Amino acid sequence: MPVSTAGSGYIEKTRIQNLFYPVKEVRPAGMVKPLLRALAGEVVRPAPFWLMRQAGRYLPEYRKLRASADSFLDLCFTPALAAEITLQPVRRFDTDAAILFSDILTIPHAMGQEVRFVEGKGPVLGPFDPAALRPVGDRLDAVYEAVSLTRAGLPGETALIGFAGAPWTVAAYMVEGGSSRDWLKVRQMAFGDPEGFAALIDRLVDATVDHLAAQAAAGAEALQLFDSWAGLLPPTAMRRWCLEPARRIAAALKDRYPSVPLILFPRGAGVLAAEFAEVGDCVGLDTSMDPAWAAQAIQADAAVQGNLDPMLLVIGGDTMEQAAREILSALCRGPHIFNLGHGVLPVTPPEHVTALRRLVQEVP
Ligand code: CP3
Repeated sequence: MPVSTAGSGYIEKTRIQNLFYPVKEVRPAGMVKPLLRALAGEVVRPAPFWLMRQAGRYLPEYRKLRASADSFLDLCFTPALAAEITLQPVRRFDTDAAILFSDILTIPHAMGQEVRFVEGKGPVLGPFDPAALRPVGDRLDAVYEAVSLTRAGLPGETALIGFAGAPWTVAAYMVEGGSSRDWLKVRQMAFGDPEGFAALIDRLVDATVDHLAAQAAAGAEALQLFDSWAGLLPPTAMRRWCLEPARRIAAALKDRYPSVPLILFPRGAGVLAAEFAEVGDCVGLDTSMDPAWAAQAIQADAAVQGNLDPMLLVIGGDTMEQAAREILSALCRGPHIFNLGHGVLPVTPPEHVTALRRLVQEVP
């Protein structure tokens, strides 16, 4: 018997049945949003569609608002603006999800480490001093207000995703002081001072749980953990600094918000992505991953999200469409959410996103 997981909340481990008995729509349309059904393990066609970094500089309407604000962080901490920017790509492309407009570095900022975003350079952080870090307190409340405002403005079928950076990736920016070519300092700390590093990761696990839980309380319906730099670590260290913290975060959230699914995006995890599938409800595949492998290794345990190369979205046309069709066909027998393998690039023509959205909508 095919089992529907979405009607009465999220029932664990009924997913595998959906691989063999795709569930047709049995509820009145609109009762459960397509993204949430896929995250609950249903095979949903057309595949739900959203893109990492779907809001941002490639959109003229974003650049207009960005020019009116002093800084990127001002946008993040002004609820009405953050909500408006979150809704821009939903209006333009009719995506199945909105992702809160914010940044993973709001946590170190709220912990008292200086964070600035410098045009053309990316994030620049002040000196890393673990003794000077303070509890987050109420300094992220504007973010939760943005979540509530966004939720109130969303069309009925569109789900709202809240997010945070994973502890390893956030620690990497904190220790390194910004983006880095070789990430020497953070790797030196992880391997050379594992106890000191564990203390930092523990603090970030706690702050991340609170931050994600507060977004769920404010109206986020799914949560994503971005571990953009997981791939810097060899397997044993990746399990310790990426997988185990993700497991603790997932367990704490399931305690507090059992019906809010968690998407993990361990970029560069390679075959270890299969272990993340045991921890999260969904695993985001990066560009390098073979969807055919993921269909075998992940879809029985978790939904798969991804993974078109963002460069193909810059190129557009048949090249993009062919690659998108391959991904859709490799993952169509299990729960799949269409997305990129990393964020939208600033040089992306918005019309290519329109074309991609249409294609995903039309592939049965
Ligand atoms: O996906 C979305 O549309 C939601 C918003 C979002 C932003 N950052 C907005 C942003 C999300 C989910 C993030 C996550 C984020 N931030 C990650 C993880 C995902 C990834 O890309 O790997 C990381 C590593 C960061 C840290 C960060 N923030 C960097 C490295 C940069 C500079 C690079 C860049 O693209 O400019 C930022 C700035 C940033 N975050 C911008 C946006 C829209 C650009 C700010 C501007 O307008 O100048």
